[in-house]
Amino acid sequence: MPEDDIEVYIQKSREQAERLNSGVKDFTVFDLNHIPDKPLIREEVKKIVDVFVRYHQTGIPRNLLIAGARGSGKTLTLKYLAKTFSGKLGLPFHAVNCRVHNTSFKALAHMLKVRPRGYSYSELCTRFEEQIPDKAVIVLDEVDMLSEKDFRKDILYFLSRSVRRFNVVLLSNNPKFVNTLDESTRSSLQPDLLVFRNYSAVEIHEILQERARVGLHSSDDAILAEISALVARNTNSDIRVAIRTLLYVVTHEASSVAECFDQARHDIMGDMLQNLNDKALLVLRSAVDDPTGFVKQVYTRYCQLSRTMGEDPYSYYYFYSNLAFLQSVGLLMLVSAKVDRAYTNRIHPLVSKEQIDAVMTARFRPE
Ligand SMILES: Nc1ncnc2c1ncn2[C@@H]1O[C@H](COP(=O)(O)OP(=O)(O)O)[C@@H](O)[C@H]1O
Ligand SMILES: [Mg+2]
Repeated sequence: MPEDDIEVYIQKSREQAERLNSGVKDFTVFDLNHIPDKPLIREEVKKIVDVFVRYHQTGIPRNLLIAGARGSGKTLTLKYLAKTFSGKLGLPFHAVNCRVHNTSFKALAHMLKVRPRGYSYSELCTRFEEQIPDKAVIVLDEVDMLSEKDFRKDILYFLSRSVRRFNVVLLSNNPKFVNTLDESTRSSLQPDLLVFRNYSAVEIHEILQERARVGLHSSDDAILAEISALVARNTNSDIRVAIRTLLYVVTHEASSVAECFDQARHDIMGDMLQNLNDKALLVLRSAVDDPTGFVKQVYTRYCQLSRTMGEDPYSYYYFYSNLAFLQSVGLLMLVSAKVDRAYTNRIHPLVSKEQIDAVMTARFRPE
């Protein structure tokens, strides 16, 4: 292409991008990690506030397990409370995402802001108690993603037994996470369970209105209501899909609201696939491959596939809890089915083989 042409092309492309983006005042509002100044405060948040206020006054912790589907606002709520409490009351929060820092060792090192190499695990624990001596809230986000290898989940044992009496908050998709812990950890941690139910269409609508107010030049309330209804009906009320749909509508990503919604859901599922660990990806792939979808058959297939890929397969127990996880993030559905007069679970994947393969080929490329 001659130089002149490319200049003309750049100019045209810029004009088009500007036209498409002209409805947006502030793109950061559409970032999935964005913490709004005024989040919708759900009823359950008051209980959490009460726990922290009492802990601040008495120093007696009450550990919490906050469970809820993906996109139900767990991470956002704790980040928002951290900001408010550390500012107003001087109660410090230390948080770590256990999917990213997936062993007790890495999680502690992350909160201490040190490199994990060069320390033993017990040295890290000692340092933790020295450096974080006062009352502090410790948040372990996506705690169910601590590695299977870290089978005793030492960090939970350490935090719950520490003389420093930290107030521990666990965030998880799985309300039964505590059942996976060994007896001694469970009995010293004893978290109160708080479940974030799925947002209603009305709540989704309110959240979208606030995003639109801050992030857009103008918005059509009927469209916000349409998006909210689609998201409440067809996802686990995943706010991330709602926010992405709104962005696509405003930037004319597709011609109708319904198409923008489909596209948003597809893209968010794609992000989620990218973030799955290798084993969960293989579980999902085996589910897609198995024509029956019966859990036991999928497990057999999964073991075979893992071996071909040079991965150690999960035990049946971990395989099963991974299915529950994949369900909670909206990648599959478990449906009870009657076979030979007994009930068994059948897996319905909610992503296509093509989507999974795209991630797998990138990841399991031969050396
Ligand atoms: N109550 C709320 N008010 C405003 N935005 C929210 C609210 N709950 C969730 N969101 C937004 O939805 C997205 C997903 O929330 P997040 O806290 O990451 O969910 P979870 O941790 O439960 O998966 C984020 O962009 C967040 O800002
Ligand atoms: Mg989260």
